[in-house]
Amino acid sequence: MIYNLEKIDAKSHAGDLLFLYGDEGAERTLPLSKKELDMVKVRREEKKDFLLVFDRLPYHLYFLSFDSEKPSPECQEELRRSAAMLLSRLEADKVQSLAVSAVGTLPEEMAAFVEGITLADYSFDRYRTKESYHLDTLTIDNLFLKPEELEASQRLWNRIYWCREWVNLPVQDLNAAAFADELASIAADLKDVHCTVMDKRQIEALRMGGLMAVNRGSVDEPRFVVLEYKPAEAAKQQPICLVGKGIMYDTGGLNIKPDDYMQEMKSDMAGAATMASVLFAAADNRLPVHLVALLPMTDNRPGFNAYAADDILTMYDGTTVEVVNTDAEGRLILADAIAYAARNYNPRLIVDAATLTGAAVRAISTYGIAAMQVGAENPMTMLSLVGKQVYERLVEFPMWSEYDELIKSPIADLRNCGTTPQAGTITAGKFLAHFAGKVPYIHLDIAGVAYFTKPQHYYRVGGSGYGIRLLYAFLQMQDMIKG
Ligand code: BES
Ligand code: ZN
Ligand code: ZN
Repeated sequence: MIYNLEKIDAKSHAGDLLFLYGDEGAERTLPLSKKELDMVKVRREEKKDFLLVFDRLPYHLYFLSFDSEKPSPECQEELRRSAAMLLSRLEADKVQSLAVSAVGTLPEEMAAFVEGITLADYSFDRYRTKESYHLDTLTIDNLFLKPEELEASQRLWNRIYWCREWVNLPVQDLNAAAFADELASIAADLKDVHCTVMDKRQIEALRMGGLMAVNRGSVDEPRFVVLEYKPAEAAKQQPICLVGKGIMYDTGGLNIKPDDYMQEMKSDMAGAATMASVLFAAADNRLPVHLVALLPMTDNRPGFNAYAADDILTMYDGTTVEVVNTDAEGRLILADAIAYAARNYNPRLIVDAATLTGAAVRAISTYGIAAMQVGAENPMTMLSLVGKQVYERLVEFPMWSEYDELIKSPIADLRNCGTTPQAGTITAGKFLAHFAGKVPYIHLDIAGVAYFTKPQHYYRVGGSGYGIRLLYAFLQMQDMIKG
């Protein structure tokens, strides 16, 4: 999509036009007849959120009314969602170019609308032989947005698009080596970003027992990618480490997933895609915060020499783990990466994102992230707050010490899944927290939100990029609290 910022005169604009309308008192600026204005008034008395389409002119006039009196996060979310709904209408009307003007609308409301229409306009087109619909041009009244703000947002949305694309790519075309190469080539073009790709031999030399075990059934090599963004402004700061689960495909391994449980498991690398995208977006927009993304990658297969239940692994930090179920593989590769972050980077915070448990989806469905923290109460409060603002929400699960009992093994330090399926999301979080040691730690289980099988407003079918706006907004806040 191409974006223009121009002065738009609604009354004389000759082309498809959208009005965003949030304020009762602004009727006079609209090119509508008395009768049409009365219709608007009647509709607004019923409900403030609606779309009217006026077809009497040689072009379409879309009139999108919203409730500016709602609290601002809800109002902005409503605008993102309405924008997605409007886009379906534009597709039906074959509109290629749209101008947006507004009355009674704040800059952040306009920004939310543009965000919604942009995120909704993504589709996974790589394997289509027929072209799909996209809006070509969006011209926005320059009263509402500054060019530099729009450009910064565009860079963020571009990263969300890329995250979705990676998540949507099947493992046949994006295995660990290919993903690592792609990240390295992006990093090479970004200022202050350095990428290290460790191959199988180096992973073995590091004794990453979790990553090596999960990779044993695969014909594809594993990778461990470390991206570092270290801007001069933040060089002296301890970094925030972003760890992402990079299971390129999760068959379950020897505990193979039954029936259609395997479908969509190409999305099991969404955590890694999310964290790489967050770091790239931060670098694109020069956020003054020192970041390290640590991304362990492999597929999980029941191949010839696949790791098996009853195996006992020695992890990067020396912890021993009894394998009880080879389908609880994510925590094994993450454990090595979290321990590596804690030992080598002296981080002030470790955050991970992982499509870790079906239990998280059962607990809260597809409406948010299951989050846990140890020693990171304040960052979690802040994350939760920005989550409400950008509407990528999280709910905090408890990390009571009683849960520790459920992951103790009689023959090793830990077992890789709980002794009961109860609280499966929490036992997974507990397992990971062990490897963060004393470093403040936040775990984000994104299993419910990383990939949608039905469209959810501006998140379309497939990879969502959910969590990127959340973490980006969180990193923006770091700047404010730094001094
Ligand atoms: N990748 C899955 C979790 C998942 C399930 C993500 C559904 C997205 C949607 C993970 O590796 C897994 O298989 N977890 C098991 C853990 C169990 C064996 C302890 C699960 O949740 O069933
Ligand atoms: Zn699994
Ligand atoms: Zn998995």
